[in-house]
Amino acid sequence: MEKYRDIIEKAYEVQKNAYAPYSNFFVGACVKTKDNKYFLGANVENASYGLTNCAERNAIFQAYSMGYRKKDIESICIVGSGKNLITPCGACRQVMVELLEKDTPIVLVTGDKIKITNIEELLPFSFTDESL
Ligand code: THU
Repeated sequence: MEKYRDIIEKAYEVQKNAYAPYSNFFVGACVKTKDNKYFLGANVENASYGLTNCAERNAIFQAYSMGYRKKDIESICIVGSGKNLITPCGACRQVMVELLEKDTPIVLVTGDKIKITNIEELLPFSFTDESL
């Protein structure tokens, strides 16, 4: 996937910073903006488990914190350890349905497995601001 080589490499790079002493499951994420900036995140766990932040949420929140919005985001990559292809948790899907465009490419990578999807496919019939 030549087109996504940059975000895949950067997601792998930040995966090294994952703080995951409880699950030993290491995740890295990279958001690329349309003006070619990269925002990175790794999963950061907590002894109280529920306070864990997933890698993709950290990366997306970093981009938003710097003023970028969904229209500015070109793509996101999430790389995971483990033997099956990584797939985002329900909480992250709910965050992504609000903070990414429906068709923004979401590149999922684990080892030699890769899938390009989007949030419309990952979270159909979702609850959004339009539901309020
Ligand atoms: N995790 C992520 O960071 N992203 C995902 O897409 C799936 C799960 C993290 C949360 C927790 O630190 C560990 O992986 C195991 O669930």
